[in-house]
Amino acid sequence: MQLIQQDEKFQRRAFLKRIIRFFFLSISFIFLILGIKILKPKNPRKREYKFFQIPEDKILRNGVRKVDINIGGEKYLRIYVISKEDTLIALSPICTHLGCFVNFDRNDNEFVCPCHSGRYDTEGKVISGPPKEPLQRLPVKIENNKIYVGLAL
Ligand code: FES
Repeated sequence: MQLIQQDEKFQRRAFLKRIIRFFFLSISFIFLILGIKILKPKNPRKREYKFFQIPEDKILRNGVRKVDINIGGEKYLRIYVISKEDTLIALSPICTHLGCFVNFDRNDNEFVCPCHSGRYDTEGKVISGPPKEPLQRLPVKIENNKIYVGLAL
């Protein structure tokens, strides 16, 4: 009789241990999922853009133009607008190597970074130098014959 009672106690303890183990494993799993979600880098391509109008007189029919966009008050952001036949491209002037501002060289028709001589073509593709990535293209949209460029602020 006493052996049966001890066996029941043992089974209850084993059952409780399993429940406790399951509980702690569940908690650990939840913390693991939360940790992955917090540490996971956000998709850099998924950006929110705010659109600003580009005055038409700032755009050449064919060519590259530096445009300072008023983003409010006294604040301006510089971009490059490139028009070729029917296409319009807006590029960030920030070199993808270490973040210097690129200049447009009209003689060679390419963007040149003054810091380490990175060179980009008029579509922002790397021609030479240390940059590995092209200049960032900014979204352009035309609404009611007005041109807007998207900036991630
Ligand atoms: S920062 Fe432009 S090439 Fe290095």
